[in-house]
Amino acid sequence: DKEEDLVPRPPVVTIMGHVDHGKTTLLDYIRKSHVAEGESGGITQHIGAYQVDVNGKKVTFLDTPGHEAFTAMRARGAQVTDIVIIVVAADDGVMPQTREAIDHAKAAGVPIIVAVNKIDKPGASPDRIRTEMSEFGLMPEEWGGDVVYQDISAKKGTGVQDLLEAITVVAEMAELKANPNRAAYGTVVEARLDKGRGPVATLLVENGTLHPGDPIVVGTTYGRVRQMTGDNGRTLKKATPATPVAITGLNEVPEAGDKFMVFDSDKTARHIGEARAEKKKEEERNTTSAMSLDDLYN
Ligand code: GTP
Ligand code: NA
Ligand code: MG
Repeated sequence: DKEEDLVPRPPVVTIMGHVDHGKTTLLDYIRKSHVAEGESGGITQHIGAYQVDVNGKKVTFLDTPGHEAFTAMRARGAQVTDIVIIVVAADDGVMPQTREAIDHAKAAGVPIIVAVNKIDKPGASPDRIRTEMSEFGLMPEEWGGDVVYQDISAKKGTGVQDLLEAITVVAEMAELKANPNRAAYGTVVEARLDKGRGPVATLLVENGTLHPGDPIVVGTTYGRVRQMTGDNGRTLKKATPATPVAITGLNEVPEAGDKFMVFDSDKTARHIGEARAEKKKEEERNTTSAMSLDDLYN
């Protein structure tokens, strides 16, 4: 893309941290307090990612990636996260999965924001968390470092608005841009088979704009985008960069971490989709025969 075609886009944020430190509670609190419910029925659909509005600025949260999903997506070259929030419980401390989260974020080369959670608990010691995290190179801004820390209670909502605002500040410094005026491409966040609707894939548009009717290749699957649903269950007419969207219209169920791309005709999408599916089968056959040879020697 040429520089003049690029416009600012929302950040894509992943929340990581040790077991029970409050990742889900935080995501749920943000979703409930910030995602408008759909017109139809009022039940927010779970599509694995959602977007919130923070003082007129959008922020996209990836809902699913635990560490394994994050690692799998990265291993497949799918780096979709712009900012990592590391949640640390203030009544606990830096634990093995906290360190893993730090390693993931460092390997991805993305900014880290530390959310010091559970400050409502009697045993909470936010300063001790800052000291422990500093030992891993995450020196807080208020101590002369460059990492943003925010004390929160995900349960009560304390500090969560400040955390969201900190995300928009960090995002602005990252100068994230995309070109909405091109054929869309991006990554599969999650996918499943729906009994009535067939394959349903949640896509994160990384660049370009996705529309209903677009011929599309998703991993080794293909089709034409039929229905597009937003995180609030509403039907969408377009999905711009950093927007999560659930689509139907694929011939099969793709995998999380698969790349997708829009093509100019159904015929091209089908040819490319079929060729990729054939290549994958071939690779699987080769792996299987290599494995059986190994078995012979073992
Ligand atoms: P895993 O997905 O299992 O890794 O855990 P998680 O990080 O998603 O933690 P989760 O949100 O499930 O929270 C674990 C427990 O801590 C739950 O009982 C929450 O209610 C509680 N909890 C989370 N945040 C807070 C908080 O700010 N204050 C208090 N008091 N409890 C919290
Ligand atoms: Na838990
Ligand atoms: Mg959880």
